[in-house]
Amino acid sequence: MKHMELKNKFAEIFGTDKTPRLFCAPARVNLIGEHTDYNGGHVFPCALSFNTYVAAAKRGDSKIRLYSLNFEKTGLVEADLTQLAFNKKQDWANYPLGVFWAMLQRGLPPAGADLLFWGDVPLGAGLSSSASIELAAAVTLNTLFALGLPHTELAKIGQEAENQFVGMNCGIMDQFASAMGKANHAILLNCNTLAYEYAPLELKGVSILICNTNKPHNLIESKYNERRSQSEHALRQLQSRLPIKALGELSEEAFEANKELITDPVERKRAKHAVYENQRTLKAEQALKAGDLEKFGQLMNASHISLRDDYEVTGAELDAMAQAAWKQPGVLGARMTGGGFGGCVVALVKDEAVEAFKRNVAQEYEAKTGYKPDFYIAAAGDGARELKD
Ligand code: GLA
Repeated sequence: MKHMELKNKFAEIFGTDKTPRLFCAPARVNLIGEHTDYNGGHVFPCALSFNTYVAAAKRGDSKIRLYSLNFEKTGLVEADLTQLAFNKKQDWANYPLGVFWAMLQRGLPPAGADLLFWGDVPLGAGLSSSASIELAAAVTLNTLFALGLPHTELAKIGQEAENQFVGMNCGIMDQFASAMGKANHAILLNCNTLAYEYAPLELKGVSILICNTNKPHNLIESKYNERRSQSEHALRQLQSRLPIKALGELSEEAFEANKELITDPVERKRAKHAVYENQRTLKAEQALKAGDLEKFGQLMNASHISLRDDYEVTGAELDAMAQAAWKQPGVLGARMTGGGFGGCVVALVKDEAVEAFKRNVAQEYEAKTGYKPDFYIAAAGDGARELKD
């Protein structure tokens, strides 16, 4: 949708002649480092050029009016700054309302606003459409009300909205990537300290291909929260001997030497994944820096296997997609990306092999699962921002 169209819709939907300002925030794909963020490890995502867009104008009163062109069935959602509460009926609008709520915890924002949303992010595909909605709302309020919050703070606000308002106990990765994305770069983020660095994505002749299973990851919330508490319990048992705050602080060797402290074999597998995946992520960044994409791809494959066997968050569709991808000529590596239980696989594929890859993988995947997949070439885009036209 063109910027002008969104502005015209704004007038139509909110019945106002105020000129709205335009903002956007991207989705993300995680290259490696899955289920490591809330375990105090590293992640390696990049922001995409899929975005949630917002046309917005501030109001003088405490009213909030929200509308999404992607969720027209929900209709106009009206709320008041003084009475914000999660409500299932508010559907998608709980994400931006959560952002208003998280800002209020900091004594912000001073007034309500009208916000019209539209996005081209595939929904429920594990590419963080929800974080892009949160960050689109956060950057909108930050700019409209001249709050002056740094983007890292906007990421935390987005995460608080999701954790405390919506009730999904996610880590910081998605909101951080959406807030801090940089075109043609991935972000290596230490989720323990929030120290980060940008890594140029110079993939000479290789594409990042996102393969959408089109299996919605709808059961993710309960299973996600369960994985999180299993990892936390394993950590507490390790802490009886080790002075660590997070699984991300452990090397593979330290884990192996102490793993018997974790009494439950399932929890031991969960912790093993968190430790090894974190180390893989650090190795992957080194491989990227050294231009060794073969190595990067092998680490991606190992990541998928660990998510399948030790963390158990893949499922039949993601496994079928990864397996089909691994067989193709010109594939350096492939793994599930995001929370799991449906959603997308991300693959590194040589440019000249991309067309055959799509054809063959689509055929095999559909025959096995009955779902038709979609493919997108990932372009690493910029983070949340105002759009000037
Ligand atoms: C979801 C969460 C993130 C992260 C990933 C798994 O996307 O929102 O915080 O935990 O799952 O890596």
